[in-house]
Amino acid sequence: MAVERTFSMIKPDATRRNLTGAITKMFEDAGFSVIASKRVWMSRREAEGFYAVHKERPFFGELVESMCSGPTIVQVLQGENAIARNREIMGATNPSDAAEGTIRKAFALSIGENSVHGSDAPETASQEIAYWFSETEIVG
Ligand code: CMP
Repeated sequence: MAVERTFSMIKPDATRRNLTGAITKMFEDAGFSVIASKRVWMSRREAEGFYAVHKERPFFGELVESMCSGPTIVQVLQGENAIARNREIMGATNPSDAAEGTIRKAFALSIGENSVHGSDAPETASQEIAYWFSETEIVG
């Protein structure tokens, strides 16, 4: 296994409930290092650009609305096999399918307000990290 970087977001439904620390602790307890982190309030344009792959989906409007509704914490996580492991730690997209002990099982409100996002593959991790961070903001 290799040390990887993945992109993570703590979404507005979670920052609104003061879950930034609790969720970040779950990443750190799993052995990840948070090597970049900042709090952003996304513009509509930024949310539409970030989630452009979903623009034809029926939930796109709701997704953009939700991501623009409050602050998001954007982060880069580093660790062994970070992309796949982060997806395990987050749990299934729909919290009603998420396993016990996962972030979404513990905190997500619904499939739309599911508290966290994580990259699904190495290519998307690189793209998503570059969407939010410059190289000098990432301190490994
Ligand atoms: P995320 O991992 O950020 O990737 C895309 C997001 O779209 C997903 O989490 C959910 O928040 C949202 N999403 C996916 N499917 C649905 C759905 N059926 N209804 C509402 N939102 C959805």
